[in-house]
Amino acid sequence: TLHLEAMSIFDMGNKLLENIRKVNFTGASGQVQFDASGDLIHPAYDIINIIRNGMRTVGFWSNYSGLLSTISPEALYSKPPNTSLANQHLYDVIWPGETAQRPRGWVFPSNAKELKIGVPNRFSFKEFVTEDNGTGSIKGYCIDVFTQALSLLPYPVSYKFIPFGSGTENPNYDKLIHMVESNEFDAAIGDIAITMSRTVTIDFTQPFIETGLVILAPVKKHIKTSWAFLQPFTLEMWCVTGLFFLIVGVVVWVLEHRINEDFRGPPSQQIITIFWFSFSTLFFAHRENTMSSSGRGVLIIWLFVVLIIVSSYTASLTSILTVQQLDTSIKGIDDLKSSNDPIGFQVGSFAQDYMVKELNISRSRLRALSSPQEYAEALKLGPKEGGVMAIVDERPYVELFLSTYCKIAVAGTDFTSRGW
Ligand code: GLY
Repeated sequence: TLHLEAMSIFDMGNKLLENIRKVNFTGASGQVQFDASGDLIHPAYDIINIIRNGMRTVGFWSNYSGLLSTISPEALYSKPPNTSLANQHLYDVIWPGETAQRPRGWVFPSNAKELKIGVPNRFSFKEFVTEDNGTGSIKGYCIDVFTQALSLLPYPVSYKFIPFGSGTENPNYDKLIHMVESNEFDAAIGDIAITMSRTVTIDFTQPFIETGLVILAPVKKHIKTSWAFLQPFTLEMWCVTGLFFLIVGVVVWVLEHRINEDFRGPPSQQIITIFWFSFSTLFFAHRENTMSSSGRGVLIIWLFVVLIIVSSYTASLTSILTVQQLDTSIKGIDDLKSSNDPIGFQVGSFAQDYMVKELNISRSRLRALSSPQEYAEALKLGPKEGGVMAIVDERPYVELFLSTYCKIAVAGTDFTSRGW
């Protein structure tokens, strides 16, 4: 019913095509001309930046150069094509909002499900993470790390922090892990140690801080008196050294006094000479000549021994006066295991279970401590007066603790290696 027969027929299509192929004019988009295969010769485009109702050209693109460029295509046609990417360049784009900063290209979805993120509401060592009592916001080092990491993501993440724990004592971290496992929280962030048992039930990110269990113990001072200069040698060493000085003095006197004027004189004078000669070798300051070859032989060997004694004394005294002058009687975890004295741990930490299950330390020996003040008090009292012999805790807490408290130190090395 279209009555196509009423339409007139155009039968000069080839002629039309031929005429189109021959066109050569400058149109709105530049030169319009086709090659033998019907393709546009040197097609090129302006790259424009629309700013509200206006626009500005920020560069060009042309088939000839195959690059985005601020130089017009016509200017390039006279040169051989240079397709090096180093030449690719556009003027700065002004993005919506009148900013030169490139937008990420996303917006917060209005219907996104917020992630429920559990965070430990700590009572002590709040620097790591806790709820601010005044504002109710969650703050701390772990939160800073988390928000910085989020800002690096190329997409938004909608989340809310849910404090875990009353804030009046440190929460139980195993319970927090369990709440992630049972989907009460979508995730948890904080000073959560990555332990073997926890990795069985939940996934962890890469650790953001190194941690490990260490022993905190009270320290004794090495040097208690101004007699520190006697400490490099033991009493026996001092006695033996003094004896050798006298023996060498006597031996040299025996070998020398018959032929050497320096070792002659009344008996009292000779005794003084023996003492004076032998002890002045300590400073290589003896003035008496040795004339016999055997006397010289004894003296040269003795001077070499003196050199060694003086060097050892100097080195030991230097190290005593310069290196850490504090020491604990506990050298490592074996000392804790072999004793029956109480050991402290931080409330809520995995350290308690670790000591019971992995180190076979009796639970009855463990004392829960909740704050740095309690740590210091328990260590000060010691096991005999209701305190503890040592505290086992993670290194970051211990370092924070030691930044405030003295006369306490880390004993031995970390005996576990983990991360948060
Ligand atoms: N940092 C305490 C714990 O992970 O158990």
